[in-house]
Amino acid sequence: MDFMNTVLIVGGGGREHALLKALLRSERALCVFAYPGNPGMERDGCMLVDQPIENWDDLAKWASENEIDLTIVGPEVPLVEGIADTFNKEGLTIFGPSKAAARIEGSKAFSKDLMKKYGIPTADFQTFTDKNKAHAYLEEKGAPIVVKVSGLAAGKGAIVCDTVKEAKDALKDIFDKKSFGEAGETVVIEEKMSGEEASVFVLTDGKSYKILPAAQDHKTIGDNDTGPNTGGMGAYSPAPIVDGALMARIEKEIIVPTLAAMEKEKSRYRGVLFIGIMVTKEGPKVVEYNCRFGDPETEAILPLVQCDWYEAFKACAKGRLSDVKWSVDPGFCVSVVLASKGYPGKFEKGKVISGIEMAESKGALDVYFAGVSLDKQERLVTGGGRVLAVSSWAPALIDAVAQAYEGVAEIQFDGKTFRKDIAAKGLKYTK
Ligand code: AMP
Ligand code: GLY
Repeated sequence: MDFMNTVLIVGGGGREHALLKALLRSERALCVFAYPGNPGMERDGCMLVDQPIENWDDLAKWASENEIDLTIVGPEVPLVEGIADTFNKEGLTIFGPSKAAARIEGSKAFSKDLMKKYGIPTADFQTFTDKNKAHAYLEEKGAPIVVKVSGLAAGKGAIVCDTVKEAKDALKDIFDKKSFGEAGETVVIEEKMSGEEASVFVLTDGKSYKILPAAQDHKTIGDNDTGPNTGGMGAYSPAPIVDGALMARIEKEIIVPTLAAMEKEKSRYRGVLFIGIMVTKEGPKVVEYNCRFGDPETEAILPLVQCDWYEAFKACAKGRLSDVKWSVDPGFCVSVVLASKGYPGKFEKGKVISGIEMAESKGALDVYFAGVSLDKQERLVTGGGRVLAVSSWAPALIDAVAQAYEGVAEIQFDGKTFRKDIAAKGLKYTK
Protein backbone atom coordinates (compact mmCIF):
# COMPACT_ATOMS: atom_id res chain seq x y z
CA MET A 1 0.00 0.00 0.00
CA ASP A 2 1.24 3.45 -0.86
CA PHE A 3 2.03 5.57 2.14
CA MET A 4 0.97 9.17 1.92
CA ASN A 5 3.39 11.73 3.39
CA THR A 6 1.73 14.80 4.86
CA VAL A 7 3.33 18.22 4.51
CA LEU A 8 2.48 21.67 5.82
CA ILE A 9 3.89 24.75 4.07
CA VAL A 10 3.89 27.95 6.12
CA GLY A 11 3.52 31.08 3.99
CA GLY A 12 1.48 32.12 1.00
CA GLY A 13 3.62 33.93 -1.55
CA GLY A 14 5.30 33.13 -4.85
CA ARG A 15 8.16 31.47 -2.96
CA GLU A 16 5.81 29.08 -1.16
CA HIS A 17 3.96 28.30 -4.41
CA ALA A 18 7.35 27.44 -5.97
CA LEU A 19 8.22 25.26 -2.97
CA LEU A 20 4.91 23.44 -3.44
CA LYS A 21 5.48 22.85 -7.15
CA ALA A 22 8.99 21.57 -6.46
CA LEU A 23 7.66 19.17 -3.81
CA LEU A 24 4.95 17.91 -6.15
CA ARG A 25 7.53 17.04 -8.81
CA SER A 26 8.69 14.24 -6.53
CA GLU A 27 7.33 10.78 -7.34
CA ARG A 28 6.31 10.36 -3.74
CA ALA A 29 2.61 10.54 -2.84
CA LEU A 30 2.18 13.77 -0.92
CA CYS A 31 -0.75 15.39 0.80
CA VAL A 32 0.13 19.08 1.20
CA PHE A 33 -1.50 21.73 3.36
CA ALA A 34 -0.62 25.41 3.51
CA TYR A 35 -1.05 28.13 6.08
CA PRO A 36 -2.20 30.59 4.91
CA GLY A 37 -1.42 29.49 1.31
CA ASN A 38 -2.97 31.17 -1.74
CA PRO A 39 -5.43 30.37 -4.56
CA GLY A 40 -2.61 29.18 -6.85
CA MET A 41 -1.42 26.67 -4.28
CA GLU A 42 -5.03 25.55 -3.82
CA ARG A 43 -5.43 25.15 -7.58
CA ASP A 44 -2.38 22.87 -7.56
CA GLY A 45 -4.00 20.55 -5.06
CA CYS A 46 -2.84 22.01 -1.77
CA MET A 47 -5.39 22.28 1.04
CA LEU A 48 -5.50 25.43 3.11
CA VAL A 49 -5.60 25.25 6.91
CA ASP A 50 -9.17 26.28 7.62
CA GLN A 51 -9.05 26.69 11.39
CA PRO A 52 -8.38 29.97 13.14
CA ILE A 53 -4.69 30.17 14.08
CA GLU A 54 -3.77 32.77 16.70
CA ASN A 55 -0.15 31.80 17.24
CA TRP A 56 2.45 29.14 16.43
CA ASP A 57 1.29 26.96 19.33
CA ASP A 58 -2.11 26.75 17.61
CA LEU A 59 -0.50 25.79 14.32
CA ALA A 60 1.70 23.15 16.00
CA LYS A 61 -1.42 21.73 17.66
CA TRP A 62 -3.19 21.65 14.30
CA ALA A 63 -0.16 19.92 12.73
CA SER A 64 -0.09 17.28 15.48
CA GLU A 65 -3.81 16.61 15.17
CA ASN A 66 -3.50 16.29 11.40
CA GLU A 67 -0.44 14.05 11.59
CA ILE A 68 1.77 16.37 9.56
CA ASP A 69 5.12 14.68 9.17
CA LEU A 70 7.05 17.61 7.70
CA THR A 71 6.51 21.39 8.01
CA ILE A 72 8.37 23.74 5.68
CA VAL A 73 8.58 27.42 6.60
CA GLY A 74 8.85 30.07 3.86
CA PRO A 75 8.98 33.51 5.49
CA GLU A 76 11.34 34.90 8.14
CA VAL A 77 8.84 36.21 10.67
CA PRO A 78 7.66 32.81 11.98
CA LEU A 79 11.27 31.60 12.17
CA VAL A 80 12.49 34.67 14.05
CA GLU A 81 9.50 34.27 16.38
CA GLY A 82 10.56 30.69 17.12
CA ILE A 83 8.13 28.49 15.14
CA ALA A 84 10.81 25.78 14.81
CA ASP A 85 11.26 25.57 18.58
CA THR A 86 7.49 25.40 19.10
CA PHE A 87 7.09 22.57 16.57
CA ASN A 88 10.12 20.68 17.91
CA LYS A 89 8.68 20.83 21.42
CA GLU A 90 5.54 19.14 20.06
CA GLY A 91 7.75 16.42 18.57
CA LEU A 92 7.08 17.65 15.01
CA THR A 93 9.63 17.70 12.19
CA ILE A 94 10.16 21.18 10.76
CA PHE A 95 12.46 22.59 8.06
CA GLY A 96 13.82 25.90 9.30
CA PRO A 97 16.27 27.25 11.87
CA SER A 98 15.62 27.62 15.61
CA LYS A 99 14.85 31.02 17.10
CA ALA A 100 18.48 31.31 18.24
CA ALA A 101 19.79 30.52 14.75
CA ALA A 102 17.23 32.79 13.02
CA ARG A 103 18.87 35.76 14.79
CA ILE A 104 21.23 35.68 11.84
CA GLU A 105 18.43 37.52 9.99
CA GLY A 106 16.35 38.85 12.90
CA SER A 107 19.17 40.91 14.38
CA LYS A 108 21.67 42.67 12.15
CA ALA A 109 23.56 43.64 15.33
CA PHE A 110 23.98 39.88 16.00
CA SER A 111 24.99 38.98 12.45
CA LYS A 112 27.42 41.87 12.07
CA ASP A 113 29.08 41.02 15.41
CA LEU A 114 29.26 37.37 14.33
CA MET A 115 31.03 38.32 11.10
CA LYS A 116 33.45 40.59 12.94
CA LYS A 117 34.24 37.98 15.60
CA TYR A 118 34.88 35.21 13.07
CA GLY A 119 36.59 37.26 10.36
CA ILE A 120 33.86 36.85 7.73
CA PRO A 121 34.20 39.57 5.07
CA THR A 122 31.52 42.28 5.28
CA ALA A 123 31.25 46.10 5.30
CA ASP A 124 32.90 47.91 8.24
CA PHE A 125 30.27 48.99 10.73
CA GLN A 126 29.30 50.15 14.14
CA THR A 127 26.11 49.56 16.13
CA PHE A 128 24.15 52.29 17.95
CA THR A 129 21.19 52.70 20.30
CA ASP A 130 21.83 56.42 20.79
CA LYS A 131 21.15 58.99 18.09
CA ASN A 132 23.84 61.45 19.20
CA LYS A 133 26.56 58.82 19.12
CA ALA A 134 25.30 57.73 15.69
CA HIS A 135 25.52 61.36 14.49
CA ALA A 136 29.10 61.66 15.70
CA TYR A 137 30.01 58.48 13.81
CA LEU A 138 28.33 59.80 10.65
CA GLU A 139 30.31 63.03 10.87
CA GLU A 140 33.51 61.05 11.28
CA LYS A 141 32.82 58.64 8.38
CA GLY A 142 31.03 60.94 5.92
CA ALA A 143 28.96 59.78 2.94
CA PRO A 144 28.14 57.59 1.11
CA ILE A 145 27.06 55.42 4.00
CA VAL A 146 24.36 52.87 4.82
CA VAL A 147 21.97 53.10 7.77
CA LYS A 148 20.17 49.88 8.75
CA VAL A 149 17.68 49.02 11.44
CA SER A 150 18.80 45.92 13.28
CA GLY A 151 15.43 44.14 13.39
CA LEU A 152 13.12 42.78 10.70
CA ALA A 153 11.74 45.42 8.34
CA ALA A 154 10.27 43.50 5.39
CA GLY A 155 13.19 44.50 3.13
CA LYS A 156 12.81 48.22 3.86
CA GLY A 157 15.30 48.51 6.69
CA ALA A 158 18.48 49.36 4.75
CA ILE A 159 18.81 52.99 3.70
CA VAL A 160 21.69 53.66 1.32
CA CYS A 161 22.59 57.35 1.80
CA ASP A 162 24.57 59.50 -0.62
CA THR A 163 24.89 62.41 1.81
CA VAL A 164 25.32 62.81 5.58
CA LYS A 165 22.05 64.77 5.61
CA GLU A 166 20.18 61.81 4.14
CA ALA A 167 21.72 59.57 6.79
CA LYS A 168 20.72 62.00 9.55
CA ASP A 169 17.19 62.10 8.17
CA ALA A 170 17.13 58.31 8.24
CA LEU A 171 18.22 58.33 11.89
CA LYS A 172 15.52 60.88 12.71
CA ASP A 173 12.97 58.62 11.09
CA ILE A 174 14.21 55.61 13.01
CA PHE A 175 14.97 57.09 16.46
CA ASP A 176 12.53 60.04 16.70
CA LYS A 177 9.58 59.07 14.54
CA LYS A 178 10.06 55.40 15.41
CA SER A 179 8.97 54.50 11.88
CA PHE A 180 10.37 50.98 12.27
CA GLY A 181 9.10 50.44 15.82
CA GLU A 182 11.13 48.00 17.92
CA ALA A 183 13.12 46.87 14.87
CA GLY A 184 14.76 50.32 14.92
CA GLU A 185 15.82 50.38 18.59
CA THR A 186 19.28 49.33 17.45
CA VAL A 187 20.85 50.73 14.29
CA VAL A 188 23.81 49.51 12.27
CA ILE A 189 25.75 52.13 10.30
CA GLU A 190 28.05 50.65 7.72
CA GLU A 191 30.35 51.43 4.87
CA LYS A 192 28.74 51.46 1.43
CA MET A 193 30.11 48.63 -0.68
CA SER A 194 30.23 48.77 -4.48
CA GLY A 195 29.83 45.91 -6.86
CA GLU A 196 27.20 43.55 -8.19
CA GLU A 197 25.01 41.58 -5.82
CA ALA A 198 24.26 37.86 -5.89
CA SER A 199 22.10 35.55 -3.79
CA VAL A 200 23.61 32.31 -2.54
CA PHE A 201 21.52 29.59 -0.86
CA VAL A 202 22.95 26.87 1.34
CA LEU A 203 20.89 23.95 2.57
CA THR A 204 22.28 22.58 5.79
CA ASP A 205 21.46 20.13 8.53
CA GLY A 206 24.02 21.76 10.80
CA LYS A 207 26.78 19.32 9.84
CA SER A 208 26.83 18.94 6.08
CA TYR A 209 25.68 21.47 3.53
CA LYS A 210 24.79 21.75 -0.15
CA ILE A 211 24.92 24.91 -2.25
CA LEU A 212 22.15 25.72 -4.73
CA PRO A 213 22.83 27.48 -8.06
CA ALA A 214 23.42 31.19 -7.40
CA ALA A 215 20.85 33.79 -8.44
CA GLN A 216 20.58 37.53 -8.93
CA ASP A 217 17.58 39.46 -7.68
CA HIS A 218 16.39 42.84 -9.03
CA LYS A 219 15.51 44.86 -5.95
CA THR A 220 14.35 48.21 -7.24
CA ILE A 221 11.03 48.88 -8.96
CA GLY A 222 12.56 50.57 -12.02
CA ASP A 223 14.65 49.26 -14.91
CA ASN A 224 18.43 49.69 -14.62
CA ASP A 225 18.18 49.48 -10.83
CA THR A 226 16.36 52.78 -10.38
CA GLY A 227 13.64 53.85 -7.95
CA PRO A 228 12.77 52.56 -4.49
CA ASN A 229 13.58 49.06 -3.25
CA THR A 230 10.92 46.36 -3.36
CA GLY A 231 10.79 42.78 -2.10
CA GLY A 232 12.33 41.81 -5.46
CA MET A 233 11.03 42.32 -9.00
CA GLY A 234 12.61 39.34 -10.70
CA ALA A 235 15.49 36.91 -10.56
CA TYR A 236 17.42 34.52 -12.71
CA SER A 237 19.69 31.56 -12.10
CA PRO A 238 22.43 30.50 -12.40
CA ALA A 239 24.05 33.94 -12.26
CA PRO A 240 27.23 33.87 -14.41
CA ILE A 241 28.92 36.41 -12.15
CA VAL A 242 29.23 33.63 -9.57
CA ASP A 243 31.53 31.39 -11.57
CA GLY A 244 33.28 28.32 -10.13
CA ALA A 245 36.23 30.31 -8.81
CA LEU A 246 34.04 32.89 -7.07
CA MET A 247 31.76 30.20 -5.60
CA ALA A 248 34.83 28.41 -4.24
CA ARG A 249 35.88 31.64 -2.49
CA ILE A 250 32.38 32.22 -1.14
CA GLU A 251 32.36 28.67 0.19
CA LYS A 252 35.75 28.93 1.85
CA GLU A 253 35.61 32.51 3.11
CA ILE A 254 31.92 32.82 3.95
CA ILE A 255 29.83 29.61 4.02
CA VAL A 256 32.15 27.32 5.99
CA PRO A 257 33.14 29.96 8.59
CA THR A 258 29.51 31.10 9.01
CA LEU A 259 28.22 27.59 9.75
CA ALA A 260 31.14 26.96 12.11
CA ALA A 261 30.54 30.31 13.84
CA MET A 262 26.86 29.49 14.42
CA GLU A 263 27.85 26.15 15.93
CA LYS A 264 30.39 27.86 18.23
CA GLU A 265 27.75 30.37 19.28
CA LYS A 266 25.50 27.46 20.31
CA SER A 267 23.08 28.36 17.53
CA ARG A 268 23.63 25.45 15.14
CA TYR A 269 22.04 26.40 11.82
CA ARG A 270 19.56 24.04 10.19
CA GLY A 271 17.47 24.93 7.16
CA VAL A 272 18.35 27.16 4.27
CA LEU A 273 20.81 29.99 4.77
CA PHE A 274 20.44 32.79 2.21
CA ILE A 275 23.57 34.90 1.90
CA GLY A 276 23.33 38.23 0.09
CA ILE A 277 26.76 38.74 -1.43
CA MET A 278 28.36 41.89 -2.80
CA VAL A 279 31.02 41.05 -5.37
CA THR A 280 33.51 43.83 -4.61
CA LYS A 281 36.94 44.48 -6.08
CA GLU A 282 38.47 42.93 -2.95
CA GLY A 283 36.33 39.83 -3.26
CA PRO A 284 32.93 38.58 -2.04
CA LYS A 285 31.50 40.26 1.07
CA VAL A 286 28.29 39.59 2.99
CA VAL A 287 25.56 42.23 2.58
CA GLU A 288 23.18 40.32 4.82
CA TYR A 289 22.08 36.87 5.88
CA ASN A 290 18.51 35.62 5.70
CA CYS A 291 17.21 32.56 7.49
CA ARG A 292 14.95 31.42 4.63
CA PHE A 293 14.60 31.08 0.88
CA GLY A 294 14.54 34.29 -1.18
CA ASP A 295 11.54 35.58 -3.04
CA PRO A 296 11.74 35.71 -6.12
CA GLU A 297 15.06 33.77 -6.20
CA THR A 298 13.28 30.54 -5.25
CA GLU A 299 11.00 30.88 -8.27
CA ALA A 300 14.12 31.05 -10.47
CA ILE A 301 16.20 28.32 -8.81
CA LEU A 302 13.88 25.46 -7.93
CA PRO A 303 12.62 24.79 -11.49
CA LEU A 304 16.23 23.89 -12.39
CA VAL A 305 16.90 21.47 -9.53
CA GLN A 306 15.78 17.86 -9.85
CA CYS A 307 15.43 16.48 -6.38
CA ASP A 308 13.02 14.73 -4.07
CA TRP A 309 12.44 17.93 -2.10
CA TYR A 310 10.37 16.16 0.54
CA GLU A 311 13.41 14.01 1.29
CA ALA A 312 15.81 16.98 1.11
CA PHE A 313 13.84 19.15 3.53
CA LYS A 314 13.26 16.26 5.89
CA ALA A 315 16.95 15.33 5.76
CA CYS A 316 17.90 18.91 6.71
CA ALA A 317 15.64 18.72 9.72
CA LYS A 318 16.86 15.25 10.72
CA GLY A 319 20.61 15.71 10.24
CA ARG A 320 21.09 13.43 7.24
CA LEU A 321 21.47 15.85 4.34
CA SER A 322 24.61 14.10 3.09
CA ASP A 323 22.39 11.20 1.86
CA VAL A 324 20.38 13.50 -0.42
CA LYS A 325 21.13 13.67 -4.13
CA TRP A 326 20.07 16.28 -6.60
CA SER A 327 20.95 17.29 -10.10
CA VAL A 328 20.82 20.71 -11.64
CA ASP A 329 19.50 20.99 -15.20
CA PRO A 330 21.85 22.71 -17.60
CA GLY A 331 20.37 26.02 -18.73
CA PHE A 332 18.80 29.03 -17.08
CA CYS A 333 15.59 30.02 -15.38
CA VAL A 334 14.24 33.58 -15.41
CA SER A 335 11.44 34.77 -13.14
CA VAL A 336 9.67 38.07 -13.79
CA VAL A 337 7.46 39.53 -11.07
CA LEU A 338 4.19 41.25 -12.01
CA ALA A 339 3.25 43.89 -9.46
CA SER A 340 0.35 46.24 -8.80
CA LYS A 341 0.68 49.82 -10.03
CA GLY A 342 2.09 51.99 -7.24
CA TYR A 343 4.02 49.19 -5.49
CA PRO A 344 6.20 49.46 -3.35
CA GLY A 345 4.09 52.47 -2.32
CA LYS A 346 0.29 52.52 -2.14
CA PHE A 347 -1.60 50.38 -4.65
CA GLU A 348 -5.17 49.34 -5.37
CA LYS A 349 -6.40 45.76 -5.03
CA GLY A 350 -9.22 43.78 -6.61
CA LYS A 351 -8.15 44.03 -10.28
CA VAL A 352 -9.33 41.01 -12.28
CA ILE A 353 -6.46 38.84 -13.57
CA SER A 354 -6.69 36.95 -16.87
CA GLY A 355 -4.42 34.97 -19.16
CA ILE A 356 -2.64 32.74 -16.65
CA GLU A 357 -3.60 29.47 -18.39
CA MET A 358 -2.61 30.95 -21.73
CA ALA A 359 0.83 31.83 -20.35
CA GLU A 360 1.23 28.37 -18.83
CA SER A 361 0.20 26.63 -22.05
CA LYS A 362 3.42 27.86 -23.63
CA GLY A 363 5.36 25.15 -21.79
CA ALA A 364 8.64 25.39 -19.87
CA LEU A 365 6.85 28.06 -17.87
CA ASP A 366 5.31 28.26 -14.41
CA VAL A 367 3.14 31.02 -13.01
CA TYR A 368 3.51 31.37 -9.26
CA PHE A 369 0.84 33.20 -7.29
CA ALA A 370 1.68 35.80 -4.65
CA GLY A 371 -0.74 38.70 -3.96
CA VAL A 372 -3.75 37.01 -5.57
CA SER A 373 -7.21 36.61 -4.00
CA LEU A 374 -10.60 35.34 -5.10
CA ASP A 375 -13.43 37.86 -5.23
CA LYS A 376 -17.09 37.15 -4.39
CA GLN A 377 -17.63 35.75 -7.88
CA GLU A 378 -14.60 33.47 -7.42
CA ARG A 379 -12.58 35.42 -9.98
CA LEU A 380 -8.82 35.77 -9.51
CA VAL A 381 -8.08 39.34 -8.49
CA THR A 382 -5.00 41.23 -7.32
CA GLY A 383 -4.59 41.27 -3.56
CA GLY A 384 -1.06 42.47 -2.93
CA GLY A 385 1.92 44.44 -4.18
CA ARG A 386 3.71 41.58 -5.88
CA VAL A 387 0.95 39.65 -7.65
CA LEU A 388 2.52 36.87 -9.73
CA ALA A 389 5.93 35.55 -10.75
CA VAL A 390 6.34 34.14 -14.26
CA SER A 391 9.25 31.68 -14.46
CA SER A 392 10.56 30.15 -17.64
CA TRP A 393 13.57 27.97 -18.38
CA ALA A 394 15.61 27.18 -21.50
CA PRO A 395 19.11 26.00 -22.38
CA ALA A 396 20.20 29.57 -23.24
CA LEU A 397 19.60 32.57 -20.97
CA ILE A 398 18.45 34.74 -23.87
CA ASP A 399 15.70 32.21 -24.71
CA ALA A 400 14.62 31.87 -21.09
CA VAL A 401 14.28 35.68 -20.97
CA ALA A 402 12.24 35.78 -24.20
CA GLN A 403 9.93 32.96 -23.07
CA ALA A 404 9.36 34.52 -19.65
CA TYR A 405 8.35 37.83 -21.27
CA GLU A 406 6.07 36.00 -23.73
CA GLY A 407 4.33 34.57 -20.69
CA VAL A 408 4.20 38.01 -19.07
CA ALA A 409 2.54 39.43 -22.22
CA GLU A 410 -0.33 36.89 -21.96
CA ILE A 411 -1.28 37.93 -18.44
CA GLN A 412 -3.46 40.99 -17.98
CA PHE A 413 -4.68 43.03 -15.06
CA ASP A 414 -5.29 46.71 -14.61
CA GLY A 415 -2.04 48.40 -13.53
CA LYS A 416 0.23 45.43 -14.38
CA THR A 417 3.77 46.63 -13.60
CA PHE A 418 7.01 44.79 -14.26
CA ARG A 419 10.68 45.35 -15.01
CA LYS A 420 11.74 44.84 -18.59
CA ASP A 421 15.40 44.14 -17.84
CA ILE A 422 15.32 40.98 -15.74
CA ALA A 423 18.55 39.01 -16.33
CA ALA A 424 20.11 41.81 -18.42
CA LYS A 425 23.07 41.63 -16.00
CA GLY A 426 23.53 37.97 -16.90
CA LEU A 427 23.17 38.51 -20.65
CA LYS A 428 26.25 40.74 -20.54
CA TYR A 429 28.31 37.61 -19.86
CA THR A 430 26.92 35.65 -22.79
CA LYS A 431 27.71 38.27 -25.42
P1 AMP B 1 19.67 44.39 3.30
O1 AMP B 1 18.31 44.60 3.87
O2 AMP B 1 20.76 44.46 4.30
O3 AMP B 1 19.74 43.22 2.40
O4 AMP B 1 19.88 45.56 2.26
C1 AMP B 1 18.99 45.76 1.18
C2 AMP B 1 19.74 46.27 -0.01
O5 AMP B 1 20.42 47.47 0.32
C3 AMP B 1 20.86 45.33 -0.46
O6 AMP B 1 20.40 44.33 -1.31
C4 AMP B 1 21.78 46.30 -1.16
O7 AMP B 1 21.31 46.60 -2.45
C5 AMP B 1 21.67 47.54 -0.32
N1 AMP B 1 22.75 47.55 0.70
C6 AMP B 1 22.68 47.10 1.96
N2 AMP B 1 23.86 47.24 2.61
C7 AMP B 1 24.71 47.79 1.72
C8 AMP B 1 26.08 48.22 1.77
N3 AMP B 1 26.79 48.10 2.88
N4 AMP B 1 26.60 48.72 0.67
C9 AMP B 1 25.89 48.89 -0.46
N5 AMP B 1 24.60 48.54 -0.57
C10 AMP B 1 24.00 48.00 0.50
N1 GLY C 1 14.71 38.57 -2.79
C1 GLY C 1 15.24 39.03 -1.57
C2 GLY C 1 14.62 38.46 -0.39
O1 GLY C 1 13.91 37.48 -0.44
O2 GLY C 1 14.86 38.98 0.70
